[in-house]
This record gives sequence, C-alpha cells and structure tokens, in this order.
Amino acid sequence: MRIALITGASSGLGRQYARWCADHKAADEIWAIARRQERLEELKSELSCPVRPIPLDLADTKSLDELEHMLAEEKAKDPSFEVSLLVNAAGFGKFGTYADMTREEVDKMVDLNCRAVVDMTQIALPCMGKGGHIIQIASSASFQPLPGLNVYAASKAFVRSYTRALRFELRGKGIFVTAVCPLWVKTEFIKVARDTRNGHTVNHPFPQLTAEHVVNWSMFVNSINYPIATCCITGFIMRIADKILPAPLIMWAWEGLRRI
Ligand SMILES: NC(=O)c1ccc[n+]([C@@H]2O[C@H](COP(=O)([O-])OP(=O)(O)OC[C@H]3O[C@@H](n4cnc5c(N)ncnc54)[C@H](OP(=O)(O)O)[C@@H]3O)[C@@H](O)[C@H]2O)c1
Repeated sequence: MRIALITGASSGLGRQYARWCADHKAADEIWAIARRQERLEELKSELSCPVRPIPLDLADTKSLDELEHMLAEEKAKDPSFEVSLLVNAAGFGKFGTYADMTREEVDKMVDLNCRAVVDMTQIALPCMGKGGHIIQIASSASFQPLPGLNVYAASKAFVRSYTRALRFELRGKGIFVTAVCPLWVKTEFIKVARDTRNGHTVNHPFPQLTAEHVVNWSMFVNSINYPIATCCITGFIMRIADKILPAPLIMWAWEGLRRI
C-alpha cells in the first residue's frame, strides 16, 4: 500500500497536488490533511482515487503526534505500507511589518511554515523508500529578506535551506526532494495574507500563476531530481539576483515594488 501525504489539501496548491496525484496514480490512497473537514470531504468525492480526509491543525504539536501514531499503526498492520509522496503545502503568510502583527500571528506562521514541515518530514521519512518523492512548498519570498513580509519570507528561507540539506543527507537513497519556490499563485493565500491590521502593506506587483502550472512544473522538476523549482522567469531572476546583489539593494527595490 502506497500513500501520498498531502498537507494543505483543502485549498490552492495542496488540493491541486492531490488532483495531480489522482490523475497520475502516484499512490493507492491520498491522506489529505488540513483543518477544514468539509473541504477534504469535497476533495474525496471529486477524486477518482481513494482519499482519507484527516482534519488536523498542524500548528498544534498534538496533531503531529496523532499523525505519527496513525502511520505507525498502518505500518504495523501492513509491512509493505509506504509513503510514496509527501507534499508539505500547508502554510500561510501575513502582510504587514512587525508592528502590524500580533505575537500569535507570527508564532503560528513559524509553527506551521517551519516546525510542521520538519515534523511531517521526520514522521514520513521512516515510511519512505527508494523512489519516494518529497515536495516542500517554500516560495520566491525565500530568496531575499522582505520588509512587510518579514516573518513569512524568513520562514520560507528556512524551508528552502532545510530542504537543500535534507536532500544532501538523503543522497544515494533514491528519494527525490524538491523545494518549490513559486511567485504569486491564484489561491486563497492573498485573502488570508491581507487579513491583518495593515493588509495592504504589500500590493500585487506580479501576475498570478495558476496552481495547475505550479504543480505540473514542480512535479516535472522533482521527477528529474532537481532541488529548486522556481515556476516562472521572474522567480528565476529573483533566485539569481539573490546570489549576486547585496541584500540592502534588493530590499530597497522591494520597497518600491510592493507599493505598485
Ligand atoms: N499563493 C501564493 O502566491 C504562494 C506563493 C508562494 C508560496 N506559497 C505557499 O504555498 C503553500 C500553499 O498555499 P496556497 O497558495 O495554496 O494558499 P491557500 O489556498 O490559502 O492554502 C493553504 C492551505 O494550508 C492549510 N492550512 C492553513 N493553516 C493550517 C493549519 N494550521 N493546519 C493545517 N493546515 C493549514 C489550509 O487549509 P485549512 O484552512 O483548511 O486548514 C489550506 O489548505 C503555502 O505554504 C504558501 O506559503 C503560496
């Protein structure tokens, strides 16, 4: 029995990865994780492949314990049980400077975007063998420090750095690991990000990609075992700029861009 573990499956990129997985028969069952159970039930009725809706708040460590227990139980019942695909797509950002954020908001961002990604990976890896695939959703925001998206950008830099080193640790094990770094994607992300005391700190300077494009491209990049999927030319330029330009220069350019 091969399962796909997909977090953030109730919406946006996570939901699209679940669709991709069903279309490509990448697993025998999809474990779809997010807080909104009704959305996960909808996904279950939409997809041709079996879906197990798992409503959990991943910012809460108890949820990770529960999931670890569920995987151990399955493994005990069926020694051939394995995770063939892990997608860590649950995550959110909040627009605003440090002064616009509550402590609860920044803590939740770090808990979900960083700790939950690491915990999910730690839980999944013992059940993953040769031919397994790991997709960690970082962001183009990970390439540089971004005032007005400070904690979010830093949390995604964490995901990208963590994923690169993990990939190195897993070399020779036949596990394909990719950090996905999209720019704006048409999902519920921006609605959630604007819901702060100063949600228009960041406007909308780039055209939006579709979730379908990001998922198809990133799964191609992962299939050739490439470490970073940038998903569009602007994201690629941001990646290169980060390597050659000083951070203050990039932040001043961003100060202008985020107001457009
Ligand atoms: N859209 C963009 O422009 C963009 C660009 C670069 C990177 N990203 C990254 O892409 C990933 C997916 O975001 P998206 O664009 O698809 O946004 P989205 O449509 O808002 O999806 C976010 C997903 O995360 C889940 N989630 C949020 N809080 C959670 C929690 N505490 N526990 C469990 N699940 C939780 C949500 O489900 P529930 O609300 O049902 O829990 C939802 O399924 C995120 O990591 C985001 O940072 C997005």
